[in-house]
Amino acid sequence: MQFFIDTANLSQIKEAYELGILDGVTTNPSLMAKEGIKGTEAVIKHYIDICKIANGPVSAEVIATDLDGIIAEGKALAALDKNIVVKVPMIKDGIKAIKWFTDNGIQTNCTLVFSAGQAILAAKAGATYVSPFIGRIDDSSWDGVNLIEQIAHIYRLQGFQTKILAASIRNALHIVRCAEVGADVCTCPLDSILGLLKHPLTDIGLAKFLEDAKSMK
Ligand code: E4P
Repeated sequence: MQFFIDTANLSQIKEAYELGILDGVTTNPSLMAKEGIKGTEAVIKHYIDICKIANGPVSAEVIATDLDGIIAEGKALAALDKNIVVKVPMIKDGIKAIKWFTDNGIQTNCTLVFSAGQAILAAKAGATYVSPFIGRIDDSSWDGVNLIEQIAHIYRLQGFQTKILAASIRNALHIVRCAEVGADVCTCPLDSILGLLKHPLTDIGLAKFLEDAKSMK
């Protein structure tokens, strides 16, 4: 399973890359706004800055919701860097645009996916990635990881090539469960990635080893 970081914060992206386990980055308009990015030029510069740090796919989301607008915006984003993946919402014109991008060699990430039916449509349109939002599903008392498992089963059975990118990750357990049920990629906040490091027995064990090592001096 690949690890992407789900942020537009440059220092968090750097920190995650320094761990040596990061494969890519996802952003969305909310994450960009959180960094105080305003205006088209600033948005473009920020994507370029992310691509300079990231040595892998960087999802950049379109704002347009009509076919021509999505295509125009997606083409401009894709021209910024070879690693840009155009993130397109799961709407009717979004599906048409994904098909257009697929036919024109532009990578896509179909976002705001909450059902297996939507994931089938994204795959049929040739999306490079499909992003089911598991945390938001959990927030509404459904089971987000179950959806990842269902999509993985369908894609395997039907031979779809679209990669399942588990999004809206809330904690380290989400990451483990997504790995268990066959997600291809998990896009996570830095805290959830660092949460994987934690185990009290590791801390207790290390303290004891260091204490015993002192007696060997
Ligand atoms: C990433 O691709 C998604 O936009 C993101 O994971 C959504 O996460 P949230 O539900 O925490 O906003």
